[in-house]
Amino acid sequence: MIEKLENILNETLKNLNYEYKTKVVKSNMDGVDFQCDDAFKLAKLYHKAPFMIAEEIVNQLKENEKFENYFKEVSVSKPGFININVSDKLINDSLKSLMQKDKLGATLENETIVIDYGGPNVAKPLHVGHLRTAIIGQAINNILKFKGNHTIGDVHLGDIGAQMGQVIYGILNDFPNTKYEDIEFDLNYLNVTYPKMSALCKEDENVRKACAEITKKLQEGDPNYHILWEKIYKLSVSDIKRIYDYLDVHFDYWYGESDAYKVFPEMMEYLDKQPCVRIDNGAKVVDVKEENDKIDIPPCIIQKSDGAYLYATSDLGTIWQRKKDFNPDEIIYVVDARQSMYFTQVFRVAKKTGIYEGKLIHYGNGTVNGKDNKPFKTRTGGALKLEDLIKAVKEEFINLRKENKNMDKEDLDKIVNSILKFADLQNDLTRNYIFDIKKFSEVNGKTGPYILYTYLRINKLLTKNNGKLSDKIYNDIDRTLRLKLLEVSSVIDEASKERRPHIIANYLYELSVIANNFYQTNHMANLEESIKNDYDIVLTYNNFVLKSLLELLGIHIPKTM
Ligand code: ARG
Repeated sequence: MIEKLENILNETLKNLNYEYKTKVVKSNMDGVDFQCDDAFKLAKLYHKAPFMIAEEIVNQLKENEKFENYFKEVSVSKPGFININVSDKLINDSLKSLMQKDKLGATLENETIVIDYGGPNVAKPLHVGHLRTAIIGQAINNILKFKGNHTIGDVHLGDIGAQMGQVIYGILNDFPNTKYEDIEFDLNYLNVTYPKMSALCKEDENVRKACAEITKKLQEGDPNYHILWEKIYKLSVSDIKRIYDYLDVHFDYWYGESDAYKVFPEMMEYLDKQPCVRIDNGAKVVDVKEENDKIDIPPCIIQKSDGAYLYATSDLGTIWQRKKDFNPDEIIYVVDARQSMYFTQVFRVAKKTGIYEGKLIHYGNGTVNGKDNKPFKTRTGGALKLEDLIKAVKEEFINLRKENKNMDKEDLDKIVNSILKFADLQNDLTRNYIFDIKKFSEVNGKTGPYILYTYLRINKLLTKNNGKLSDKIYNDIDRTLRLKLLEVSSVIDEASKERRPHIIANYLYELSVIANNFYQTNHMANLEESIKNDYDIVLTYNNFVLKSLLELLGIHIPKTM
């Protein structure tokens, strides 16, 4: 619709001999649908008063034979704004054409995009810090896929870092004189051993050194340590998968940093030949400082003087592998914003050394905070396990009403997901937010359950319609709802272009408020058949939009609630 309005206005400008491409925007004034503010720019270009130009445009527009079809009213307000109210016919024609369109009218794309949105460390359970990355990353994946792109999700496990050496050290202590093959332990053992060892390393320098030595040997491919590594990996990764599954977060590849180690020989051979790689005190480094940097970006170390590889090396190796296997147009990282300097370094090394020329973008996500507005911690100061947060949300919702206690298990899980995801996705991904379980679980307010409830409530009102929308609009709230529905295509396009799922979340909330208002004002039961038919068509489409967008955010609709 906006495109149509811009076209007719541009036609008008041309007739008036103004050379200018104008823009029409949604108006935030009450009772005005759209506005055009370009009389001000034209005034500068053509040395006239903006009010005069605006009047000239409106008068000329009224001469257009399409005027009646398009507009209910167009007027000028001082000092030069053009206010536009569109005709009911234009709204309904646009709505009819939108309803015929695939993909809710979003434009199609065709890129290959790798998305890195996991990053949990093996041997440690998922914690609250992994929540935003997973939820936002999956939503971006869903949106880009919906738009037609070929997306590839990779979990990028931290499976060969310091924690592995520490846990192996602990195991060797607990199972002395046992053949590695015969050592057996379970997940509980792992969950106790990692924090124990991590604390011990902080206290005892000798233990720390011994653990680091094991890690180094493991990274060099020690076959004995590898036996234990595999046992740890199996237990831990199946637990990590279980939680991701619960959140409906999925990856096409479960690669880890250890997989990057496999390409190191060829990559290092290549890097050794690159002039920008220099030796500094025995270490291999690349300078990545650039002229316009506002902060100091230190050189990136890619191999230590003792030959050891680092976090950055594994990310470079992963880029190397992704390029070879998928040849993507773009690689997206949804990772904690606090790693942004690190990613700047890695991306610059990848460009400078010619490892990868495509787009590399880090979407740094904010943190989930506690009441003190600091990253969520348990009472004892540790990171809160993601599973415990999920349990707490579930309990909160169950205790909200006594009916919730007997809820269908699957429905309950869908609602818990909606609470977690909508709380998260309504915020710009870069921002931190305070997790207020009580507030986010309510059925009223800007919450997941509110949107789900709106959908279910409207679904109950739907009857049958003949599929033919008339040219009528019956009242203001009806008009508001139809106009809001017309925004859906551009909402998806914008969320996708910016990689910002919160644009969809906020639209979902606004649409739900209007739709609730609509059915509370227009009591379906007492209406004439023809009006009922129109309303049924509009509300059916409304629910199609709600459901499709919720799915993009990873939220599914329960049978009842
Ligand atoms: N495992 C890392 C950490 O715990 C996060 C990995 C993020 N992804 C990446 N490609 N570096 O900090």
